[in-house]
Amino acid sequence: MGQPLTVGIVGCGAIAAQYLRTIGRLPQVRLVAVADLDPERARATARPYPGVEALGVAELIADPRIQVVLNLTVPAAHAEIALRAIAAGKDVYCEKPLAATSQDARRVLEAAREAGVRVGCAPDTVLGTGTQTARAAIDDGLIGRPVAATATMMTPGHERWHPNPDFYYAPGGGPLLDMGPYYVSSLVTMLGPVSTVIGAAGRTRAKRTIGSGPRQGEEIPVTVDTHVTGVLVHESGALSTLVMSFDAVATQAPNIEVHGEQGSLVVPDPNHFDGPVLLTRLGEDAARELPVSAGYTEAGRGVGLIDFLSDREPRAGGTLAFHVLDVMESLLASAHAGRSVDVESTCERPATVTLSNPATRGQGASPRSQPFLRSPSPPPNSCR
Ligand SMILES: NC(=O)c1ccc[n+]([C@@H]2O[C@H](COP(=O)([O-])OP(=O)(O)OC[C@H]3O[C@@H](n4cnc5c(N)ncnc54)[C@H](O)[C@@H]3O)[C@@H](O)[C@H]2O)c1
Repeated sequence: MGQPLTVGIVGCGAIAAQYLRTIGRLPQVRLVAVADLDPERARATARPYPGVEALGVAELIADPRIQVVLNLTVPAAHAEIALRAIAAGKDVYCEKPLAATSQDARRVLEAAREAGVRVGCAPDTVLGTGTQTARAAIDDGLIGRPVAATATMMTPGHERWHPNPDFYYAPGGGPLLDMGPYYVSSLVTMLGPVSTVIGAAGRTRAKRTIGSGPRQGEEIPVTVDTHVTGVLVHESGALSTLVMSFDAVATQAPNIEVHGEQGSLVVPDPNHFDGPVLLTRLGEDAARELPVSAGYTEAGRGVGLIDFLSDREPRAGGTLAFHVLDVMESLLASAHAGRSVDVESTCERPATVTLSNPATRGQGASPRSQPFLRSPSPPPNSCR
């Protein structure tokens, strides 16, 4: 193995702990420093990890030791931090969505192209065994020609558990831009890019009440649609029906199903790395679980970073993330216009992931952990 990839985190909020845990398990990646608008938050994040520095945001972005800026800020700040990092000659890996608007996301990709640096973007969950095993089943012809998919995410909203949920109800948030990246990335990974969308959307309440933390009971404004539904027409001709909602109490619907001429697949939650893939072939009475056949095992958020060690565009990459954002924006535009909208962008399906454990890649059987990054109480690898 060559030199590890050196990373600096900007944004030390709720999701940062999951990245710290993953980076601690990946011998190929070394965390150098963390930064936040709130310096005390950065200090508190760095404190358990001797060797990791808490820096100012500008200081971290300028730090010559850092190759990749891991942008874990809120969606409204994604483009600003990415552009500053690119201007400093750094590669960037961003939490989703790539930017709050596709216009901002385009500026990020253009700046990166001019600067000769690379852009990666969450979700990397689709590199796990769940979506990858389903994709392999489709590519191997187990369901015949894919014709349709359903993707359903319905919850009462993140304000129940997130202590600062404002961004979920502001531009760049809402159920579609917040959770849609997982579902649309998984659908594009399995069925290819989307050419046209037809949408409808609603907004149930003008305010939401924070349910936990120091601001519990505080009301926040809702300025985005909170129930978004529609159809994605893939370039292949397959039709995906999408329902993304912060307005539902509960659902029993599978997260994703893919239907082909010869069979149907139940695909696990794209917000998780793994989970059972179920296949029912035409003529069979019951579904059977497919053996895991592709994807990263025991993966966590941040595993997409390891593609920066090669020369390729990261599989959890800017072009895919831009297309996903463009699809979601087009769906909202369609909902507001009351007609179908053509999606301007396209992308390649990202390269498949061979079944492998990223923490042991090229390392033999036992992962080399970074003792200084061992977290006292590792958080789970999924978000609610
Ligand atoms: N919370 C989750 O479960 C979860 C799961 C998956 C993905 N995400 C994504 O991760 C990102 C962050 O979410 P979060 O829940 O951690 O949010 P958060 O509000 O808890 O944390 C964001 C942090 O970024 C900092 N920040 C904001 N603007 C900044 C700027 N300009 N410069 C430096 N720091 C800045 C804030 O001070 C805060 O500490 C979002 O894009 C979100 O969609 C969150």
